[in-house]
Parts: sequence; C-alpha cells; structure tokens
Amino acid sequence: EQNRINIAIDGPAGAGKSTVARMVASRLQYIYVDTGAMYRAVTWYMQSHGISAENEQKVLQTVQNMVIELKPHESGQMVLLNGEDVTPFIRSQKVNSEVSRYAQIEDLRHHLVHLQRMMALSKGVVMDGRDIGTTVLPAAEVKIFMTASVKERALRRFKELDKAEGITLEQLETDIARRDRLDEEREVSPLRRAEDAVFLDTTDMNIDEVVEYITSFCRTRMDGEKEQ
Ligand code: CDP
Ligand code: CDP
Repeated sequence: EQNRINIAIDGPAGAGKSTVARMVASRLQYIYVDTGAMYRAVTWYMQSHGISAENEQKVLQTVQNMVIELKPHESGQMVLLNGEDVTPFIRSQKVNSEVSRYAQIEDLRHHLVHLQRMMALSKGVVMDGRDIGTTVLPAAEVKIFMTASVKERALRRFKELDKAEGITLEQLETDIARRDRLDEEREVSPLRRAEDAVFLDTTDMNIDEVVEYITSFCRTRMDGEKEQ
C-alpha cells in the first residue's frame, strides 16, 4: 500500500491540464479537482444575475451564500451551485471572455482557495488550476507546471470547437494570449511556476506521453514517501 500524496498541476489555457489530470487521477484511483470549473461556475452565475466583476462586494456576498460542489462524473466532473448542475453552461465564449476578470477578485479567491484546501485534506487528490502549487497546496508532494506554445494551445482548443461557434483559429489565439496575460499579471496569486514544480513543455508531446511521464513521476514520489 503506497502512501497517498497530493498532485498540483498548473499552467496556461489549453496546456492539457484537465485532460491529463483526469487521466492521472483515474490511473492512480485518485480524486480529480478542476479548480477552473469553480471560477467558471461563479462567473456564469454572476453574469446570469447581472453582477459585474467591478461590484466586488456583491460578488463576495453572493458567493458566500452559495453552495459550490464538485462531483465526479464519467466525462470528468460536475459543478453544482446550490444543488443545480451548471456544468453545461460554464465553457461558453461568454464565460471565457470574463472569467479572468472575476478571478482577480481577492476575496473571491480566498473563498474558493479555502474550499479547494478542504477538498485536498485527506490526500489522494489531483488538482489543476493556476495557483495550486504556489498558493492552494504549497505542500503538495508533486507539482507540475505544464505549458505548450500559444499556437499549439490555440490549435488544440480549435479542434475541440463546434464549427457552429464560428470562431477562427486566430481569434482563439488572441483570446488565449489575453487570458494568459490577465492570469500572469494579476496581483493575487498570479499564474506562476512554483520553484519546486517540474516544468513540462508539452508542445511536442501527445496526451499518453504526458500522462505516462506524470504517473511514473508520482509513483517514484509515493515510494519515496513510504521509505521516510
Ligand atoms: O480550461 P482552461 O485552461 O481554459 O481554463 P480553466 O482552468 O477552466 O480556468 C478558467 C480561468 O479561471 C482561468 O483563465 C483563470 O482566470 C481562472 N482560474 C484561476 O484564476 N485560478 C485557478 N486555480 C483556476 C482557474
Ligand atoms: O485544461 P487545459 O486548458 O490546460 O487543457 P485541456 O482542456 O486539458 O486540453 C486542451 C485540448 O488539448 C484537449 O482537447 C486535449 O485533448 C488536447 N491535448 C493534446 O492534444 N495534447 C496534449 N498533450 C494535451 C492535450
């Protein structure tokens, strides 16, 4: 029986974090936690209720009165707000365009970080986001900072898209670069590689190669933990 550890995966949009984190979790029989889905669900809710990101007090008050749950699901993970499944709404262009604005609100971040830490208390968690290795789980036994060129990341996202959305590859690249910049330049827990994170450029790696690399790295760490 190997000791359970926590695994933090951070990086910019389209790097492959959620795909890989979910597969690593499944291989290790760990729980996958998608923190981006929490920021997205909150953004969708605020937009639906006409609460703008400038109205920080109202955002905080609203989120404090909300029950946010993540539930494992065959195709990844479900987000429930006050018991209602909002997963189908959180990946829209409208949410994409504003999520990084809401994610700059310091008090909102504190609230979500607290929830995320609670989810990782019993270990055996693979968590992905932007600030997991630096802020949410600074003591995680494994930290990966995953990236890829912005061209490759835009192309990956483009392939996922429904043609009906009518968005071009160039537009996607601009959107992603803009979101990267907002995430990297914000004052509270910006997107940054933790000093002790493994840097992984996946531009020329396929999904299986990345999953294999991270899983074997984790297994080595678990063995190390056991011997201590
Ligand atoms: O899947 P994708 O990489 O496009 O984004 P995501 O992981 O779903 O995160 C959406 C947005 O939420 C990011 O662009 C960040 O602005 C914010 N986020 C964050 O600030 N901190 C996290 N731990 C996770 C997401
Ligand atoms: O979570 P994040 O935004 O970092 O990326 P993702 O949503 O997991 O991955 C974006 C897309 O890239 C997905 O369609 C993956 O299947 C694809 N991908 C890939 O083609 N090669 C990789 N090495 C990783 C992901």
